[in-house]
Amino acid sequence: MSDLPFTFVVPLPGALPSRVDNHIQRRLSAMQGQFLDQVTYGKMLAEDDRLVYEVYEIHRPEIAGELLMGISIVHPGKVGREFYMTKGHFHTVIDTAEVYYCLEGEGFMVMETPEGETSVEPLSPGKVLYVPPRWAHRSVCSSRQQDLITFFIYPGNAGHDYGTIEQLGFRKLVVDGEHGIEMIDNPRYQGR
Ligand code: 6PG
Ligand code: NI
Repeated sequence: MSDLPFTFVVPLPGALPSRVDNHIQRRLSAMQGQFLDQVTYGKMLAEDDRLVYEVYEIHRPEIAGELLMGISIVHPGKVGREFYMTKGHFHTVIDTAEVYYCLEGEGFMVMETPEGETSVEPLSPGKVLYVPPRWAHRSVCSSRQQDLITFFIYPGNAGHDYGTIEQLGFRKLVVDGEHGIEMIDNPRYQGR
């Protein structure tokens, strides 16, 4: 991997970067146990393993001092009344932060700490979100038609701890309620 300075382009609309080292496609089957309405999830999955979100990664050495970047695209959709979302994770090196810059769409970043602090920040074009160290993070697309697209940057040595979230879930969920978008406590939350 060259150590020379480099540029790439993130054209709008669409935000597909001109340089991609890895393209991740997450389908419903990758979200086992994550959605509140497991019955609807099962029916939807049996019908069609739909694409929920994609990540375009720009790689650098996964070491302290380097920064990893990419584009996250969460597609519009719902499982029951819960909006499409990313798996969500803590960073393996938990004391590592992240910056998100919202390029397109509408949504939220659902975040929490191991100690139980929670935060749900709305995302819309032009918004920059700073996710401090120790905060797990999950992107949620709340638009009916438009993708939620963000550019993200995080430390090379951060890593991804998906296991904690897969086991416990997030404390807060974003759903399409009777009176519009609602943040609710996760009745299936497994933690303290
Ligand atoms: C990261 C970023 C971000 C994230 C994507 C997909 O640490 O790499 O938070 O790029 O990976 O938004 O979300 P999941 O990693 O939770 O699937
Ligand atoms: Ni992250």
